[in-house]
Amino acid sequence: MNIILLGPPGAGKGTQARKLVDERNMVQLSTGDMLRAAKSSGTEMGLKVAAVMDAGELVTDEIVIGLIHEQLELDNGASGYIFDGFPRTLAQADALGALLVGMGETLDCVIEMQVDDEALVARITARSTCGSCGEVYNDNTKPIPADEKCTNCGASDFQRRADDNEDSLRTRLMAYYKQTSPLVGYYYAKGDLKSVDGLASMDDVAASIKSALD
Ligand code: AP5
Repeated sequence: MNIILLGPPGAGKGTQARKLVDERNMVQLSTGDMLRAAKSSGTEMGLKVAAVMDAGELVTDEIVIGLIHEQLELDNGASGYIFDGFPRTLAQADALGALLVGMGETLDCVIEMQVDDEALVARITARSTCGSCGEVYNDNTKPIPADEKCTNCGASDFQRRADDNEDSLRTRLMAYYKQTSPLVGYYYAKGDLKSVDGLASMDDVAASIKSALD
């Protein structure tokens, strides 16, 4: 099964993708994670995208489509892909469709995670991530354990993202509404769209996604 998690910054795409990886043995393909890895390893492409990401703008279609193409070739034969944060433009959506057809795969479901903008600011400014395994925490809803060790891997390397501040978030939201939200209509018209309430608790969101997929 191949699915897309679609929603604005902070909707909970990464959180739910990790649950699906654990429960269904699927492969998470997050363009945000791929770009951050390129940025922190200091590759030429990473240096090129750093300022764009920190400001909250979208990286070019050419770069992200290239990253997804490369990763699909590496993970070929996986039992299902979760596209997290990709596609984000109509050109990316068309490119993904063509890549899947080329692999003999289909897109089975697009889950739109519906949230409101107020909640996003609170979520994003309270987020931290384990630098070792990527487990996502939140000062309010999922705090870092008192012993300061990641519940998933035991590491003590918690990080805040450079673009998790109110200014960048405003730009990221604008990019979502201008460039990404047309994908809701695009996938609705294709008959692939299911919507879930992303404002519910993490477990309730997971349950809604499960029933959408099953
Ligand atoms: P990316 O890394 O994809 O960020 P994003 O889409 O802005 O989404 P986030 O990762 O911020 O949020 P999320 O929905 O995953 O929420 P999370 O689960 O962490 O992209 C970053 C940048 O890279 C972009 O701005 C762009 O520059 C570039 N980029 C990436 N992909 C690109 C593409 N395809 N094209 C062009 N450029 C691209 O949850 C957030 C917080 O809320 C956490 O603290 C979590 O614990 C908490 N939380 C989650 N669910 C719940 C819940 N149900 N209740 C309470 N709290 C919750």
